[in-house]
Amino acid sequence: MKRNISKEYGYIDKEKRSKLIGLDNNVIWFTGFSGSGKSTLAYELEKNLVEKGILSFVLDGDNVRHGLNSDLGFSLEDREENIRRIAEVSKLFYDSGIFLIVSFISPYNKDREYARKLIGKDFIEVYVKCSIEECKNRDPKGLYKKVEKGEILNFTGISDPYEIPKNPEIVLNTENLLIDECIKKLLKHINI
Ligand code: ADX
Repeated sequence: MKRNISKEYGYIDKEKRSKLIGLDNNVIWFTGFSGSGKSTLAYELEKNLVEKGILSFVLDGDNVRHGLNSDLGFSLEDREENIRRIAEVSKLFYDSGIFLIVSFISPYNKDREYARKLIGKDFIEVYVKCSIEECKNRDPKGLYKKVEKGEILNFTGISDPYEIPKNPEIVLNTENLLIDECIKKLLKHINI
């Protein structure tokens, strides 16, 4: 398809922005089951970074699905499109210089690899590891109960697949580690 669109370039590149902010930013990408602790860790990390004077922002699946991705459901194609859009949005945030924290189940390796390729060296994949049994016990949103009653179909980890990351930069086992310990591990990895 001939779309008649070209790229426009400004005068300020990412390096200049990073210099202005005084920070080499990252995209921290949390992946894992619903209830594994992704959002809790994402917002805790955001708080920690902002308290240290680092402007950061969280993109969270549950929130983004109310707006930008409100037209998407949970079929394979929709999840793929969900993550494609988030990867693109992440790249824009990344280029702006802000420290970005992304929290989506993002169940497929292929889609996470798309994001990794788009962002490049500053992409940090964090596997928030927690057994499905423990997620069921926690059930913070009451969704696993609904799944049991047959009210939700295609639920990740129960009736829909989750591909465990092959080479994540960090694994946080939230069944063994306290929130503070997870945050320490993350901050150490990014040298903050
Ligand atoms: S993803 O698979 O496309 O990456 P995303 O992170 O955006 O998922 O949204 C997951 C959130 O949607 C879950 O935390 C849960 O609250 C809610 N949800 C509703 N239906 C489902 C479902 N079928 N599978 C997984 N999560 C669901």
